[in-house]
This record gives sequence, C-alpha cells and structure tokens, in this order.
Amino acid sequence: MKKNYNLRIAIDSPAAAGAGTVAKSISKFYNLFYLDTGKIYRYIAYLSLKFPKKFNNRFLKTKIKKLKISDLNNKNLLSNEIGIEASIISKNKKIRKLVHQFQINFAYKPPKKYNGSCLDGRDITYKIIPDADFKFFITADVKVRAKRRFKELKYLNKNISYAEVLKSIKKRDKSDYNRKISPLKKTKDSVLINTTNLSKRACFLKIKNIIDRKIKK
Ligand code: C5P
Repeated sequence: MKKNYNLRIAIDSPAAAGAGTVAKSISKFYNLFYLDTGKIYRYIAYLSLKFPKKFNNRFLKTKIKKLKISDLNNKNLLSNEIGIEASIISKNKKIRKLVHQFQINFAYKPPKKYNGSCLDGRDITYKIIPDADFKFFITADVKVRAKRRFKELKYLNKNISYAEVLKSIKKRDKSDYNRKISPLKKTKDSVLINTTNLSKRACFLKIKNIIDRKIKK
C-alpha cells in the first residue's frame, strides 16, 4: 500500500475477544508495525516461572533491554498457566513501568518501511497511545471468548477442559478490570466492537470501514 499516511491504532480488550486476530489482519492490510502487548507480560511471567531465583528488577531490566520481537513468538507463552501468571505479574507497578517505554518506542518509532503502528492490550488507548488516530475496545460474551480460547489451546495440544478455560478467563477478567494500576476499561473515545456474533472477516471489515472513512477524506 502506498505510504501516504502514518497511522497509530490502539486497541484494548479482555482476553480472547478477537483483538489479536483483527489487529494482525488490520496491521497487514495497512502495513502497520504490530505488537500484541499481552505477549510481553506473558514473556515476563514465563521468565518468573523459569528463573524464580534470578527473577528481580535488575534481571528483568536486562531482559527487557535485550527483548526482541522474535522472543515473543515462543509457543510456550500461549498456555493457560502463563496467561494466569501474566495477569498476576501485570499488577506490579515496577514491572509495568519497565514495559511501558518499550511499548511507547514501538508505537511511536516504527521502522520506516511501515505506515505506522498498531498495539493491542489492556491500557493502550489511555496509557501507551493516548493520542492514537483510532481507538477500539473489542469485546465479546465471556462464554464465546472461552470457546474460542479453548479451541486455540486444543489446536496447540494443550490438555485443558472448556470449564477450566472459562474459569480462568473469568478470573483474569476480574483481575484486569478491577486492578488499581492500569485497569482494563473502555475509554469514552474508543469505538466499541462486540465480536460475539461477528466472523473474523466481518470484524476486519467493520474496523477497516471506520479507518477508510477517515483516511480517504
Ligand atoms: O492479552 P493476553 O491475554 O495475552 O494478556 C495476558 C495478561 O497480560 C492479561 O490478562 C493482562 O493481565 C496482562 N496485560 C496487561 N496489559 C496489557 C496487556 C496484557 O496488563 N497491555
């Protein structure tokens, strides 16, 4: 796509609402630098479980400094256990602060070959990219989200029941929405997208229409 704009897109959503899927397809379509910020918290959770003795602020600082996007593609980060641990460590103020700058750099300084950036997470619309060109809050019924996540985990050969997935998504929702620091919320200036009855394609088109209406003016 011809580069005649520089877009910043911020997306917040609860777990398994389809934000990652649509953020990826939108990023591909508009050639945006994409970051799933949940993966960073998952990566930190993974480090805390793998290196419990070494895990302190200094250790983490070094790891974040050296963090490469390829570190976030590790399939181990997708497990339910890591997701639960991520929602626990993400309540830590010092950890959030460490991750904050990485995300801001990613959002505001994408490599030149991109037409901007797109980040999804829990606090992107109001903390990481408060001046985003587009803000979305993507959600879906909790049972639908649990079904989707269950299917994904089955595909990855993870041994887990639907009931367990539902329980852990509810637990994470409670923690993410109610925590004191950077809680998940829909900001007034975010467009609400409910994907309960939307296919991936329909969700992509809904967001694409909103973006096109503004950039094609
Ligand atoms: O998006 P994902 O489910 O991979 O995120 C894992 C956990 O990381 C979330 O439950 C949330 O607690 C935390 N998180 C966060 N802020 C973000 C992204 C994720 O606190 N921007």
